[in-house]
Amino acid sequence: MIELDLLTTHADRAYPILAGLVTPRPIAWVTTLNEDGSVNAAPFSFFNVFGVDPPLVIFAPGDRDDGSPKDTARNCRRTGEFVINLVDEALAETMVRTSASLPYGESETTHENLATTPSSVIAPPRITATPAALECKVHSIQQIGENRLVLGIVHRVQVREEFFDPNSLRVRGEKFHPIGRMSVPNWYCKTSDLFEIVRPP
Ligand SMILES: Cc1cc2nc3c(=O)[nH]c(=O)nc-3n(C[C@H](O)[C@H](O)[C@H](O)COP(=O)(O)O)c2cc1C
Repeated sequence: MIELDLLTTHADRAYPILAGLVTPRPIAWVTTLNEDGSVNAAPFSFFNVFGVDPPLVIFAPGDRDDGSPKDTARNCRRTGEFVINLVDEALAETMVRTSASLPYGESETTHENLATTPSSVIAPPRITATPAALECKVHSIQQIGENRLVLGIVHRVQVREEFFDPNSLRVRGEKFHPIGRMSVPNWYCKTSDLFEIVRPP
């Protein structure tokens, strides 16, 4: 084994090492509202669901090099609301383009001509073409070093009919194929190659 110390010797390699090993990661394409009411969209792969009672999600925008928060973190703190749009292969390239840093207040959805649809219980809209969206309210924001962990409670789930069976209330896992993030900066994976392992009783 090769031993690495991410707190001292290899601190400057912590990002590519951790983000290359802890894979695949789900992607939260987060929509929030800027101060002027325009829509900010940006992807975050330091993201997951952490519990169901209450339904808890966390994503982590790192601060910019100058120590200022990214627009998404700023909007979450100001408005207390955000949408997590999940990303499939069809949306992958547009999602990546929205990671470009635009000046604050300049809308990625306008820039990319990306249609949005009003949410049900919060002000930021979802991306119309998303396969599924989680309407979230901010529970708290934890600042640990340059990481800002945004903890959110999911108030509504919106999922396209083709990916959900309304009778069994189950996600159609054979049809829903979000992409995963692999080694940074540019690698992704498909999630269509599934296998099943039945759990012991
Ligand atoms: C697939 C993908 C995942 C990303 N994940 C993160 C992340 O977890 N944390 C982060 O700080 N930046 C992440 N980024 C970079 C942000 O999307 C980028 O800094 C963006 O400009 C932030 O936008 P904002 O200032 O509008 O919030 C990711 C970029 C891509 C393409």
